[in-house]
Amino acid sequence: MLQRRFRLLFVSLNMILMGGLALAYAYSWQNAFKLYFSSKVADVALLPQSVETSADLLASIRLDDVLLAEPRPTPGRSIFFHETSCYDARNEENYILKLNARQACAIESAALHNPNFQVFVLFADPDGPVGQYNGIQQPLVDALLNYSNVHLRRLNVWRYAAGTPIEEWLNAGKLFGSRILIFCRFMVVHIADFLRYLTLFRYGGLYLDLDVVVLQNMEDMPPNYAGAESNLWLANGVMRFSHNGSGHDMVRACLRDFELHFNGYEWGTNGPGVITRVAKQICGTNHTALMQDDRERCKGFKVYGKGAFYAVAAENWRDFFEPDKLEQTMALTKYSYLVHLWNRNSKVVPIKVGSKCAYAKYAEKHCPLVYHATGEYF
Ligand SMILES: *[C@@H]1O[C@H](CO)[C@@H](O)[C@H](O)[C@H]1NC(C)=O
Ligand SMILES: *[C@@H]1O[C@H](CO)[C@@H](O)[C@H](O)[C@H]1NC(C)=O
Ligand SMILES: *[C@@H]1O[C@H](CO)[C@@H](O)[C@H](O)[C@H]1NC(C)=O
Repeated sequence: MLQRRFRLLFVSLNMILMGGLALAYAYSWQNAFKLYFSSKVADVALLPQSVETSADLLASIRLDDVLLAEPRPTPGRSIFFHETSCYDARNEENYILKLNARQACAIESAALHNPNFQVFVLFADPDGPVGQYNGIQQPLVDALLNYSNVHLRRLNVWRYAAGTPIEEWLNAGKLFGSRILIFCRFMVVHIADFLRYLTLFRYGGLYLDLDVVVLQNMEDMPPNYAGAESNLWLANGVMRFSHNGSGHDMVRACLRDFELHFNGYEWGTNGPGVITRVAKQICGTNHTALMQDDRERCKGFKVYGKGAFYAVAAENWRDFFEPDKLEQTMALTKYSYLVHLWNRNSKVVPIKVGSKCAYAKYAEKHCPLVYHATGEYF
């Protein structure tokens, strides 16, 4: 009897101890990785050139708040990229800004082909008081800043959301309160999904993922569009909306949908799910094939077919990296406005500058300054 009681006590003590340990562990992670907005640190680390980057090649640059700095985004005629990432609170005084060569390539290609649009690269930032960032490679900054239409800015998520329909929801702590915060990489995905609709709500214009290469001028494509990625999904990596009228209403519907369906544990519901659900409602059909090229059905919203932005499907991402697939890939993307490189999968594969794969060919032609500034690897 006594023995049994002791065993029970022992087991309970053990459980309390383990629970405590688990809590402490979770807490330390949560603290260590406050949400931030810089970059995919890991992406850079995986590419060989970053290993060789010497300290004197790293720039320290000041980023001003997009809400305050001039020039401000011109409504409906700006292109936006967002860079979001984990922020290591242990390095509080030293904000690390990282933009790898491929991301810089996306930015350069957008600026090169759309000279009459302003290109804004927005670095999300929790509360940085100084706005001083370190770590980006100087040659890449130099290359980008040779384009007078490129503007590097930061944004504070709270101030950025102020006065928009999502402010209340954000202030209620839903996004940051989610336990997913512990898993920083997922958190980044959520903030990235949320910010693109917020930016399009604020300014209209063209949102682009950082893993694209723009191949053509896109200024004259009438606003209010996205692209189909498959028969079931629209993708949210390329979206343009007007800052007023029905396009603006659709972005408002997207913010509302994000709020309603937000699920900190699942990726699809917040991301492609949002634009897909809203488009289904507006177009009155569940089939992306019926949405395509039918602006009338979709009340002014246009859905481009796969060939426009996602000619090479996610599962075939390796085709961009294999010299054997060069001709086939070039033929497939001949009429594309841009190519989407599926960084989630492809970031681990370095490209030697001068390689004969499709990605290197696009980079050489559509982001020449970055490609030549990147060193041995791209
Ligand atoms: C950008 O322009 C500056 C001069 O304004 C020049 O020194 C620099 O080499 C250029 N960078 C690239 C990558 O061409
Ligand atoms: C939207 O704004 C543009 C100018 O910025 C204006 O020409 C157009 O008429 C506006 N459209 C609506 C629906 O308000
Ligand atoms: C689309 O699918 C949903 C169920 O997923 C269904 O409730 C809805 O009626 C469908 N809409 C149309 C227009 O077929």
